[in-house]
Amino acid sequence: MTSTSRAWLKEHNTLHVMHPMQDPKALQDNPPLIIESGDGVHITDIDGRRFIDCQGGLWCVNAGYGRREIIDAVTRQMEQLPYYSLFPGSTNAPSIALSTRLAEIAAEEGMVKASFGLGGSDAVESALKIARQYWKLEGQPQKFKFISLYNGYHGLNFGGMSACGGVAWKSSYEPLMPGFFQVEGPHLYRNPFTNDPEELAEICAQLMERQIEMQGPDTVAAIIAEPVQGAGGVIVPPASYWPRLRQIADKYNILLIADEVITGLGRSGSLFGSRGWGVKPDIMCLAKGISSGYVPLSATLVNARVAKAWDRDVGFTSVYMHGYTYSGHPVACAAGLAAIEIVVRENLADNARIVGDYFLQRLQELKDKHRAIGDVRGKGLMLAIELVKDRESKDPFGPQDAYPIAISEGCVNQGVMIRTIVNKLIISPPLTFTKDHVDEVVDVLDRTFTANPW
Ligand SMILES: Cc1ncc(COP(=O)(O)O)c(C=O)c1O
Repeated sequence: MTSTSRAWLKEHNTLHVMHPMQDPKALQDNPPLIIESGDGVHITDIDGRRFIDCQGGLWCVNAGYGRREIIDAVTRQMEQLPYYSLFPGSTNAPSIALSTRLAEIAAEEGMVKASFGLGGSDAVESALKIARQYWKLEGQPQKFKFISLYNGYHGLNFGGMSACGGVAWKSSYEPLMPGFFQVEGPHLYRNPFTNDPEELAEICAQLMERQIEMQGPDTVAAIIAEPVQGAGGVIVPPASYWPRLRQIADKYNILLIADEVITGLGRSGSLFGSRGWGVKPDIMCLAKGISSGYVPLSATLVNARVAKAWDRDVGFTSVYMHGYTYSGHPVACAAGLAAIEIVVRENLADNARIVGDYFLQRLQELKDKHRAIGDVRGKGLMLAIELVKDRESKDPFGPQDAYPIAISEGCVNQGVMIRTIVNKLIISPPLTFTKDHVDEVVDVLDRTFTANPW
């Protein structure tokens, strides 16, 4: 690429692209890297700089870049049939094959059917609408409320955004959807209650129960939560929390929705995050890793209890009045089938667990050396380094503070692509990552913190 065409891309990006979660004015001074190619766990930008991709795209390129079998599957499908719809009167073979494959790999969780979309926000929106319709079909239309967790992230469509547990994601777009409530989830590093994980899980479980009772259990449709909170800062709940959520959902006759958009397909060290906690949700939201990010795809899976509600003959309300032109897009489903095969065949969930444990141990060593690191945490290959101004008070760096950006830029300048969410460095590489890659990244982090002492 010539320097003229590179300059053209940079200029026109600022002029014409609305970037998610960014102030357009800031793009001028802080232009993004323009990524041009990828191979394995590496990416290269238009200036020819090569980086180890600690973001995995955006928590999504689970199988890594350049996987020939996904590319071939997509190409074959495009040649044979680029599109046909699932709306009344037609369907296509790849959507049938993918829903069957998803039911196989999530058989342990009891999932039987899939509703397709194009990304995580669709997966959540579908889950919320399925839950509301389920209760109408069950003859309890007053059960329409949703309870989610502080720091939870559920995408940015109106339903999912209303379930989000952070004000920054919502305030510009209020008023939100009615019927959404949040309670405190178990955040071990930052909570007003206790440092004991199991005690914290129990306190938070009781807060969930109190909220349900306050709302009236017969008005609550579902609890929605992430098995490990991602965008909120990789918050790993104590092991007893998700089993308690299942118990609470059963006690009050409420559905449990696992938002597995990040944790699904291996990232959290088991094929699904819920499986890692030994829990069977009623509805599971999958996106990102389902196609390893190669094409937009999501699936909302439901178990037999939920699916059966539609068996009743209750007239018009039993129409599943939801879906998109591209629900079950044959090219996306072909990509999904190929991507899932790689994750399953190469045991990438196991690799995420083993390499993730090693990564966490190495990050702990960094924490022992560098005062600005307040906490390191993670599960599988989703990890975070939380930066603080003072370890005792845990005073966090804010959006205006330059320090976290100085660290992430220092890493980028040494060939490690790493992302900050305010005061957290987020690590979510492809699940093909090795211990050697971890050592490489930790060396760069170590050098960067040493060069930027706090
Ligand atoms: C848990 C969770 N749910 C939903 C979403 C929304 O996904 P998308 O950005 O693909 O719409 C995300 C995105 O990061 C997510 O992490």
